[in-house]
Amino acid sequence: MPETSPTSDERLQNEFNRWAEAGEGENMERHHLDITGKTIQFMDLRPGERVLDLGCGSGWATRLLARLVTNGPEGFGQVVGLDVSDEMIRRARAASKEFENILYVWGSAQQIPWEENFFDKMLSVESFYYYADQERALAELFRVMAPRGRIFILINLYKDNPYSLQWVDKLKVPVHVRSEAEYIELLKKHAFENVEARRIPDDTPTPDDYQTKSFHSLEDLRAFKRMGALLLMASKPDVRTPAPGSTIY
Ligand SMILES: C[S@@+](CC[C@H](N)C(=O)[O-])C[C@H]1O[C@@H](n2cnc3c(N)ncnc32)[C@H](O)[C@@H]1O
Repeated sequence: MPETSPTSDERLQNEFNRWAEAGEGENMERHHLDITGKTIQFMDLRPGERVLDLGCGSGWATRLLARLVTNGPEGFGQVVGLDVSDEMIRRARAASKEFENILYVWGSAQQIPWEENFFDKMLSVESFYYYADQERALAELFRVMAPRGRIFILINLYKDNPYSLQWVDKLKVPVHVRSEAEYIELLKKHAFENVEARRIPDDTPTPDDYQTKSFHSLEDLRAFKRMGALLLMASKPDVRTPAPGSTIY
């Protein structure tokens, strides 16, 4: 039998299964908590909302989201954590047993296994630059978001933060490196509106004896954190309420 080469999603699955087995899923909470907490404040979550955590990893952020949407006037809010790594999903499920309003799903951002017009909010932390076809992921997000649903994409690997670029060669899977302006253009091209970008500095202190394997020096790491992650925010238009004079067929 001729061997077939793995698809891009299979490569991501294999790589992130390795990360999960090495405990990196849980470690990421320490590295991403400060910028994720600030992002969650922008999300203005309400009890009862339906939220997608895209590229949820070990599920620590999914659990933060789940606590904020539970017990709404129209019943429980729900959070779906989706990840291409089945090992991340297994670990996220094991750590979330006491949550009744979380469902973890193994699948890809390239083909989100969910119905259309469903989610009120979407959070994606440090995941979007891995998606082989980011345009397809955005089309999928547009499909599954509810009319006026809001998406929040947080990434710390992007062109305008030069300190982040040293990861491109270190990571064992290909990544996209786009600028803030390029991402804004991409979101608009996919019909999202109210497209906005913010820089989210990481205020976690870096102790003088901190050992960094990723950065050339502690000064580079501190500069990277000061410059911050890129937060992209956008809404799906309310396709149910067409502008006066226009008709939806
Ligand atoms: C750097 S980790 C971040 C995980 C988590 N959001 C966090 O902050 O701890 C990137 C995550 O994105 C997931 N991922 C990568 N490509 C994906 C894809 N195409 N679809 C869904 N998840 C993906 C990986 O499996 C991994 O868990």
